[in-house]
Amino acid sequence: MTRFDLFLASGALLLLAPDGAQAAPDLGAQIVTQGAPSGTPPCAACHGPQLHGVAALKTPAIAGLSADYILARLAHYASPEGHNAQMKQVGMSLTPAEKQAVAAYVATMKR
Ligand code: HEC
Repeated sequence: MTRFDLFLASGALLLLAPDGAQAAPDLGAQIVTQGAPSGTPPCAACHGPQLHGVAALKTPAIAGLSADYILARLAHYASPEGHNAQMKQVGMSLTPAEKQAVAAYVATMKR
């Protein structure tokens, strides 16, 4: 296990703690805090619990960006022009419905 894996694991545990095994009612919120049913890791594991970015991981703040912008970025990373390995995995593994749900939810989060 690398330090990064440990970070991901501890972040996921902290985020899961409040509602235990209960599935989140909102798919977008669930993807942010717990990851997607398709296997995509939680956005919060890399972008921070409030999605305000994590300097040590070089991740930008994404909370409050418009849903259209987020969808465009996800499409970019999944395309041959997208060269960020981490976001390529995210962009390629989310289903279209999951992308819509997570973009709509992240857009409602406080910047
Ligand atoms: C494994 C770590 C990781 C995960 C998980 C992750 N991201 Fe990212 N994300 C990054 C990194 C690193 C960047 C910066 C990439 C770059 O420099 O182009 C980024 C960039 C982005 C950007 C571009 C922001 C901008 O200002 O252009 C968006 C949008 C984004 N992520 C959305 C998401 C969403 C939504 C999720 C959850 C479904 C997610 N990310 C999950 C690591 C991650």
